Amino acid sequence: MIKKLSIQPASGLQGDLSVPGDKSVSHRGLILGAISQGTTTLHHFLPAADCLSTLTALQKLGVPIKRVDTTVTISGRGLRGLTQPQQPLDMGNAGTATRLLTGLLAGQPFETTLVGDTSLSQRPMERVRQPLQAMGAQVQLTAGHLPMTITGRTLHGSCTEMQVASAQVKSALILAALQADQASTIIEKLPTRDHTERLLQQFGGQIETAPDQRTITVQPQPALVGQSLTIPGDFSSAAFFVTAATIIPNSHVRLTNVGLNPTRTGFLNILRRMGGQVTVDHEHRMGEPVGTLDVRFAQLHPVQVTATEIPAVIDELPLVALLAATANGISTISGAAELRVKETDRIATIVTELRKLGVQITSQPDGFVIDGRKSWRQPTEPLASHGDHRIGMMMAIAALRLAAPAELESAEAVNISYPTFFEDLARLSQGCEDDNCIDQRFGANWQFVGTKH
Ligand code: S3P
Repeated sequence: MIKKLSIQPASGLQGDLSVPGDKSVSHRGLILGAISQGTTTLHHFLPAADCLSTLTALQKLGVPIKRVDTTVTISGRGLRGLTQPQQPLDMGNAGTATRLLTGLLAGQPFETTLVGDTSLSQRPMERVRQPLQAMGAQVQLTAGHLPMTITGRTLHGSCTEMQVASAQVKSALILAALQADQASTIIEKLPTRDHTERLLQQFGGQIETAPDQRTITVQPQPALVGQSLTIPGDFSSAAFFVTAATIIPNSHVRLTNVGLNPTRTGFLNILRRMGGQVTVDHEHRMGEPVGTLDVRFAQLHPVQVTATEIPAVIDELPLVALLAATANGISTISGAAELRVKETDRIATIVTELRKLGVQITSQPDGFVIDGRKSWRQPTEPLASHGDHRIGMMMAIAALRLAAPAELESAEAVNISYPTFFEDLARLSQGCEDDNCIDQRFGANWQFVGTKH
């Protein structure tokens, strides 16, 4: 496992990259495959720690699942075929897996306890317990957090007006609604990623989103049928390279096979407003829009981002902050209080880390103000992930733009969503065409976290 990396400056990123499979779709493909009849095959599955937490949890719920590299075969048990696990399910760091499985297990005829790592055990679970309880679920929390015990019950179809804009909570409610005694309606606070809705339709479920994009109706007790799916590349993973190519002079990168679901791509709209040089080539659809991103270095302008835009860029906000730290003026990001309850308090960790580079950034309760006009300086202490995969990857990208090498602590956090991140980053770094070169660029502390090709 990587502990500390010495990251060398890059003189430009060049080349093509196909990023690993989408994390959100990988979780959902596993869960829907498990509750369908027949075999589901997932191609281009993301074999990262978070998705493996879901895979293992489903195995412990009695679902036969085999994985060979990025291909997963699930022998579906149907909506009523899960069995009680022998022990508490360890969800690791995976918030998505925890919230989604809570909705699923609320309607199963047995009791399950979910536990997680230190970070996950501090994340709010009341947001999922409360609306599920309104459907008749029995979910017991520990002071609002994990450990959580779910005692499966008969669930009642209901109309839920959501209090937070969260695709995880929405998806938990959809999974519960599948098991209810009548149709359910879910009204979102703001539209969020709709992978569950799209996939459920593919598996044969009946779910409709009204033209307002916020009102979702779910029909209960569907006969879901196993599918063969190819999971698109993760837009959130691609966004790290979009950012790197944008802020490092002499860069030109093409990212192929990237999922371009419009509920996920708010980052591209923001980047374009800042003057980013990115073109999008929509290629084909596989239930989800997919395409190629072509990105070049650009001098950026400041940007204002407000609440309605946040759900479509929630996981890329660390990167928006990084872009803003290179722009020729003052940017503001507001309406993003949800960042405080991610894998870390990302408002706090982004401010701490960017300040190490001399960036003028101040935190607000729900966002940041960033003045990008001051030149960055060499950090006097190591950069750190704080155990948060997206903060670690953001700071690795930032380090490429410095004048001298910088150290990154707890770099192994990338395993949560992107185990081959440093290999892919090294490949795109100019002049780096083989594994020996990767060793040189990342210094003596480099060790491979993923499969060495
Ligand atoms: C996700 C939803 C978002 C996102 C997370 C993945 C999902 O979380 O930040 O990385 O797959 O549903 P919230 O639902 O808490 O906004």
